[in-house]
Amino acid sequence: MANPLLSLVGAGPGDPELITVKAMRTIGQANVILYDALANKALLEYAAPGAIIRFTGKRYGCHALSQQEINRLIVSDARAYGHVVRLKGGDPFIFGRAAEEMAAARNAGIAVQVVQGISSALAVPAGQMIPLTCRGLAESFWVTTGTTRSGGISADIQLAARSSATVVILMAMSRLEDIMDIFAACGKNNTPAAIIQEGTTEREKMVTGTVRNIALKARYEGLSNPAVIIIGEVVRLHPSMLPATIQHVTGNMEHNTPHEEEQTRL
Ligand SMILES: C[S@@+](CC[C@H](N)C(=O)[O-])C[C@H]1O[C@@H](n2cnc3c(N)ncnc32)[C@H](O)[C@@H]1O
Repeated sequence: MANPLLSLVGAGPGDPELITVKAMRTIGQANVILYDALANKALLEYAAPGAIIRFTGKRYGCHALSQQEINRLIVSDARAYGHVVRLKGGDPFIFGRAAEEMAAARNAGIAVQVVQGISSALAVPAGQMIPLTCRGLAESFWVTTGTTRSGGISADIQLAARSSATVVILMAMSRLEDIMDIFAACGKNNTPAAIIQEGTTEREKMVTGTVRNIALKARYEGLSNPAVIIIGEVVRLHPSMLPATIQHVTGNMEHNTPHEEEQTRL
């Protein structure tokens, strides 16, 4: 039997074509594939004939395996069958609990490798032509979780709301109103915002608006998890907001000094 090995593999954001060549090849080399709910099942077509395939997420009202159960499964499958692929949505190291799985494997003397994935935090806004940085609009971006382990709101949301960066928030739909209240309290009532559910898939849904009205719009349209929230001036670049963008940019240009205009053109 092959040596025990754990490969933490990024499945990408949902579109099965948004996977790396290395991830495809690694899936094909696995003896066991343990896949999460956010990994597109179409990717299992790359599995070798005879590979054992196990689902570790929630389905049909059944409970998902606990993280401890998954860790135990990784170890027992690697010892029994050899190469285990953990196929995880997006990138395994972005809110993917990959570090815990890696530690469980290493503690059991099992070698670990990582195959990076395309994170929903980047790919989902890009799929809607919303750049996270843009000259003149945003010099940086934050990626944060909305909720913590205890169900509270992440303290980082308070800090992010005060920054001028684009803010991308994952796992936040259950506290959407509270999160928007935090941004509003920081003077961002009119800052553009977008919510994209199941981005890059054929089920994708999206609403755009402002911090003031986005929660109401999202509830009205029935948006829920999994969804990415984007807050920042870059949302004006979404095609649905373009007329407003042209006015906004023109307004800014009128107030630019010649030096600033020169930089804008560079
Ligand atoms: C546990 S985190 C995992 C993130 C993943 N590792 C990544 O890099 O995309 C799950 C959250 O990612 C976001 N997410 C993942 N896939 C998504 C998609 N296709 N569309 C919108 N949001 C998505 C949602 O906020 C969801 O609640």
